Amino acid sequence: MEKKKRASFGSKLGFLAAAVGSAVGLGNIWRFPYELGQNGGFAFLIVYLLCAFLIGWPLMLSEFAVGRMGQSNVSSSFANIIGNKRWNWIGIMGAVCVLLVIGFYAVVCGWSLEYIYQAITNQFSGQSPQELSDSFSSFTTGTWRPILWLILFLVINCAIVVGGVQEGIERTSKVLMPFLFTIIVVLCIRSISLPGGLEGLKFLFSPDFSKITPSVVLSAMGQAFFSLSLGMGCMLTYGSYMRKENHLGKTAFEVVGMDSLISILCAMTIFPAVFALGIDPSKGPELVFITLPNVFNQMPGGYFWGILFFILLAIAALTSTISMLEVITAYVSEEWKLNRKATAIGTTVLIALLAIGCSLSMGVWNEYTVLGMNLFDLFDNFTAKILMPIGGIAISIFFGWIVDRKSREAELTNEGVLKLKYLKFYTFLLKYIVPLAILAVFADQLI
Ligand code: PFF
Repeated sequence: MEKKKRASFGSKLGFLAAAVGSAVGLGNIWRFPYELGQNGGFAFLIVYLLCAFLIGWPLMLSEFAVGRMGQSNVSSSFANIIGNKRWNWIGIMGAVCVLLVIGFYAVVCGWSLEYIYQAITNQFSGQSPQELSDSFSSFTTGTWRPILWLILFLVINCAIVVGGVQEGIERTSKVLMPFLFTIIVVLCIRSISLPGGLEGLKFLFSPDFSKITPSVVLSAMGQAFFSLSLGMGCMLTYGSYMRKENHLGKTAFEVVGMDSLISILCAMTIFPAVFALGIDPSKGPELVFITLPNVFNQMPGGYFWGILFFILLAIAALTSTISMLEVITAYVSEEWKLNRKATAIGTTVLIALLAIGCSLSMGVWNEYTVLGMNLFDLFDNFTAKILMPIGGIAISIFFGWIVDRKSREAELTNEGVLKLKYLKFYTFLLKYIVPLAILAVFADQLI
């Protein structure tokens, strides 16, 4: 048993900033817009929102509750609740999942720093679309440059986590999140007001429900998990630092709502600009790194907007990676009784090695593949398609079926203080809809 009082977030706002910070990341700015572009615009958005609120919200609430109830890290929280270690594997799997996610995520974080640098030194200007594309591939397949950037990013990340929950994570999130929100709103207004920008909004908001196929549902659910940082114990870890008087259900709703809002604002920023300049909207991962510099080149004041956009990307990525590092740091330092600072540094070294592997797998190690995938894609697919869905199902079964009803409801209602009208609805979602929906999608994927 721990004798020291467990760290906690200092205020409700601080918690919200950190949890939204974890959720809002490359998933919203880099991945959501291209998934939307490739999967039929508005139809994808609707399916996405359904997944976020009907599966994401109950799951997030459950993760918060398990963390706060268990008052420990991603693994021991389970044992603290039921008195035996039988379900701790969920947390261990979660920590491994987070480690693999940050392994490939950090590579793209490094790219965001390179692109801030390129934007500041005005390197996009004068490049044709083809040249922008060539420079992106020569940079990402290069050896040293991406590695140096990702190491710099991880060092900044580590310094914040070493600072602790309140002084490091909460303080950083409280400064960066309002800044991030302001940048995205300003960029969105700028983009919509471009001549022809409204065409982009039409593309976004014209429903074509024929586009909804099982594979679209699959992508939407995977995206919701990733974007809400679910299924790997990240929200569980943050929940363990939450105070007893916080309203878990409302907070989870606010996090899902803000994350979805920011994803929509990102799409409303990118598509109007892309349409205004007559560029193909269905580009994949290169949308942000090739298409957008091309957009900035052609738009008035593009130099300034370009810098602002890539700063936005880096900030969003950073508030997500601190939550990932926190999951592993809390787990290792508590389970193995190690010093927190040393653990964060050691973990960062391990992450850097994985990330370097992922980065090289796009270039010189490209021929080494497993199941036809390089290391970067392998980590991405293995976590998104296997570990996160298993984690999601396991948490819903644990909290919905294994934890007894009285303890569950006592935690959700703050020992009966809160009267929750949605309790029945939530329990129904948690016990039946969440596991069955994930299982259906998971089975479909495996087949
Ligand atoms: N939610 C983050 C994003 O949308 O970019 C990604 C993420 C953060 C995944 C934290 C996992 C995690 F533990």
